[in-house]
Amino acid sequence: MINRNFVSIIGGAGHVGLPLGLALSSKGHDVLLIDKNQKNMNKINNGIMPFVEDGCEKLLKKMIRKKKIFATDQLDKVKKCKYIIVCIGTPINNKFKPDLKKFFNFFYNIKKYLNKNHVIIIRSSIYPGVSNKIFNIIKNRCKNLSYCPERIAQGKSLVELPKLSQIISGKNIKARIESGKIFKKVCKKIIYTNIIEAELIKLFSNAYRYINFSIANQFYLICKNQGLDFFKIRNLMKDNYKRNLNIPMAGFTAGPCLLKDTMQLSSFYNHKFPLFRSAMSINESLPQFIINELKGEYNLKKKVVGILGLSFKAENDDIRDSLSIKLLKHLKSKKIKTLQSDEYYKDKQNINKNILIKRSDIIIIGTPHKAYKKLKIGSNKILIDVWGVIKK
Ligand SMILES: NC(=O)c1ccc[n+]([C@@H]2O[C@H](COP(=O)([O-])OP(=O)(O)OC[C@H]3O[C@@H](n4cnc5c(N)ncnc54)[C@H](O)[C@@H]3O)[C@@H](O)[C@H]2O)c1
Repeated sequence: MINRNFVSIIGGAGHVGLPLGLALSSKGHDVLLIDKNQKNMNKINNGIMPFVEDGCEKLLKKMIRKKKIFATDQLDKVKKCKYIIVCIGTPINNKFKPDLKKFFNFFYNIKKYLNKNHVIIIRSSIYPGVSNKIFNIIKNRCKNLSYCPERIAQGKSLVELPKLSQIISGKNIKARIESGKIFKKVCKKIIYTNIIEAELIKLFSNAYRYINFSIANQFYLICKNQGLDFFKIRNLMKDNYKRNLNIPMAGFTAGPCLLKDTMQLSSFYNHKFPLFRSAMSINESLPQFIINELKGEYNLKKKVVGILGLSFKAENDDIRDSLSIKLLKHLKSKKIKTLQSDEYYKDKQNINKNILIKRSDIIIIGTPHKAYKKLKIGSNKILIDVWGVIKK
């Protein structure tokens, strides 16, 4: 028997699935987190968050205690769940093309457990047309398919989920109404739209951010090249001039979403997207630019380079596609002596930030963790601070 209080989340041990599962369980739903990552599922079932997400650990412990949430690898358990929310990865291959073979295979696998009463909600990021392809895979068993993209800043799920407008699109009215109903429990505002609009809203949102960051990074590179202070110029640009207020900070623009979704958009548009190419070449070039600058001035073989911060964003432990890690690997490959530290990402090679500062000749801020803001770095050290974290 199908139960409308039961929600299964596929990819439920991941960054998108787990916080959503927690939010829904806190509103009374019985949530099954279905995943393949046994290590993370063991942690979850013991009330331990497998990654950093503000406020999640406390809620996880509570929901596990109340038996409102449970992680399992048994896909057939979806049979009893009215709602099936899919949050598995949608990767890109090394030719900048979406590689959705596993994603589509997943729907071929789950199909046998579906019937006309289920509501299947895709929450992974996909490019236009993918929802229709999935509909064609499952339509003989179930037609209630919706696409409800996630636009939350990683680490802030529980804070942002109730505040942001949730886009809801569906192949039929039942899918739209039912998806709206479930998201209304955790989101303040629901916006109904059609599927292709929803697919584009998600990709445009991330591409816009990715390209926007590249503008600041390009300005930073120009300033460095001219021996000028980008942060001072940026502040002066904004001073009593509201049209410039939104200019972002420079920094290592990375992570699992912005670049990937901009690539998905580019691929969808047959790569006729020069803004994407330019943005990627600027953003991805930052680590190499720093190394070239340093090589031009110092003999790096005789220096110790310390990297403060490895995760792709502040106050988070996620290193997926981190440019700080890219920089570290590059230095190591050139046999340059490196030291590393992070406040959230755990690695046995990490050392304390103050020891790193003491032992390094060159210090590079890889991630703008708050803990670095008040660090005192002596004038005998060479500081590279793309993010402008450390007050001069
Ligand atoms: N991380 C973000 O901030 C964010 C934001 C918006 C959208 N997205 C999108 O959401 C999707 C998931 O991203 P994520 O960051 O949560 O990834 P993730 O790697 O943290 O989570 C994905 C989870 O899916 C599981 N999984 C993969 N294949 C599976 C299968 N066949 N059956 C069961 N479980 C399976 C993995 O083990 C993993 O736990 C991607 O499409 C991503 O682009 C991510």
